[in-house]
Amino acid sequence: MKINVRPMKSNDIHGVFLVDQQCFEHNWTIESYESEVNNMLANYIVAEINGEIIGFGGFWAVIDEAQITNIGVLENYRRCGVAQNLLNKMVNLAFIKGCLSMTLEVRVDNKPAIALYEANRFEKAGVRSNYYDNKIDGIIMWRYNLGE
Ligand SMILES: CC(C)(COP(=O)(O)OP(=O)(O)OC[C@H]1O[C@@H](n2cnc3c(N)ncnc32)[C@H](O)[C@@H]1OP(=O)(O)O)[C@@H](O)C(=O)NCCC(=O)NCCS
Repeated sequence: MKINVRPMKSNDIHGVFLVDQQCFEHNWTIESYESEVNNMLANYIVAEINGEIIGFGGFWAVIDEAQITNIGVLENYRRCGVAQNLLNKMVNLAFIKGCLSMTLEVRVDNKPAIALYEANRFEKAGVRSNYYDNKIDGIIMWRYNLGE
């Protein structure tokens, strides 16, 4: 399948929202993604096939640190390398924007996401107790030396 991975545009928001709905419990609103388009710190990448948004990832570039906000892929397209492709683009873009490291929080029970991050040299650096609404801990992960 031919996957196109590119920066998010405002007319991608509906597709991004549908991916969010399937992937996350927190479910950002359409308005929150619209505000991200106008957020100078925010950077979003989408993956599409035949015009359908099948995955996306975003981060905030804050001085020299990149904070991942979301990364998700529609269930039917998982384990095909889509998230890896998105993360590669996000790391490269973050480095171009002057970020030296990248961080995120992930649910302690989210094995696929933790495996993705560990495969990309993210290290566990701490735990936020009861970070998620249903009282699940969040693991803080960091990747250093983005340029290497
Ligand atoms: C986590 C998620 C984004 C991975 O997306 P994906 O497109 O399926 O991931 P990829 O196919 O690019 O996988 C890249 C690597 O991540 C790891 N990985 C991904 N899914 C995995 C799984 N279910 N089990 C074990 N390892 C996994 C593997 O190392 C994989 O490399 P490999 O296929 O060569 O073994 C996807 O499962 C998802 O959208 N989950 C719901 C949303 C979510 O939890 N997002 C993360 C929030 S912190």
